[in-house]
Amino acid sequence: MADLDWRALHEPFLLGCHAQERRESLTAVWPGFAESAGSHLYVAEDGDGLLGFVAVREVVGEAEVDAIAVEPRARKRGIGRVLLGRVDEDLRALWVTRIGLEVRASNVPARRLYAACGFEAEGLRKRYYENGEDAILLGKTLAVAVRDGSLVAAS
Ligand SMILES: CC(C)(COP(=O)(O)OP(=O)(O)OC[C@H]1O[C@@H](n2cnc3c(N)ncnc32)[C@H](O)[C@@H]1OP(=O)(O)O)[C@@H](O)C(=O)NCCC(=O)NCCS
Repeated sequence: MADLDWRALHEPFLLGCHAQERRESLTAVWPGFAESAGSHLYVAEDGDGLLGFVAVREVVGEAEVDAIAVEPRARKRGIGRVLLGRVDEDLRALWVTRIGLEVRASNVPARRLYAACGFEAEGLRKRYYENGEDAILLGKTLAVAVRDGSLVAAS
């Protein structure tokens, strides 16, 4: 995972996709991620190994997609969509009401994936990345409502 994340971060348009400090400690961070409180980690694999992963952190009813990457050889086959679909399903079951993330304005594949999975633009962080590029803040409300005094999970 650390290797795939590192390579994904170094794709030309993605350099600096995430905070500098995380890039410097990827191999230290990932082994412990699944054990840390509120973390959700899903991987897609085939006989040759890892195809992709998504890492999500959840704090008091809200979640953030921390990282998602699919091996270049396996892209555009629906793996990213399946991974995010699983996140959606599991977080709803935990009564998480919102998922957020940030994405580079130029990262068209990721923006298409997020749009296909129901994320909408909620804001902009100007010049967030080290090359001066803006971060687009995306969010998705997981429809949990109170009806007649009860929590209701909606589609
Ligand atoms: C972004 C990423 C995870 C997408 O994974 P994926 O498995 O290829 O995505 P999917 O096959 O599930 O595609 C989902 C949707 O996004 C679209 N999409 C994916 N890659 C695309 C591309 N290169 N160009 C245009 N659309 C693309 C697909 O067409 C699909 O939409 P559709 O169902 O309406 O046709 C993958 O490109 C990746 O690992 N990129 C590098 C890491 C990265 O950018 N992570 C996000 C950081 S914020």
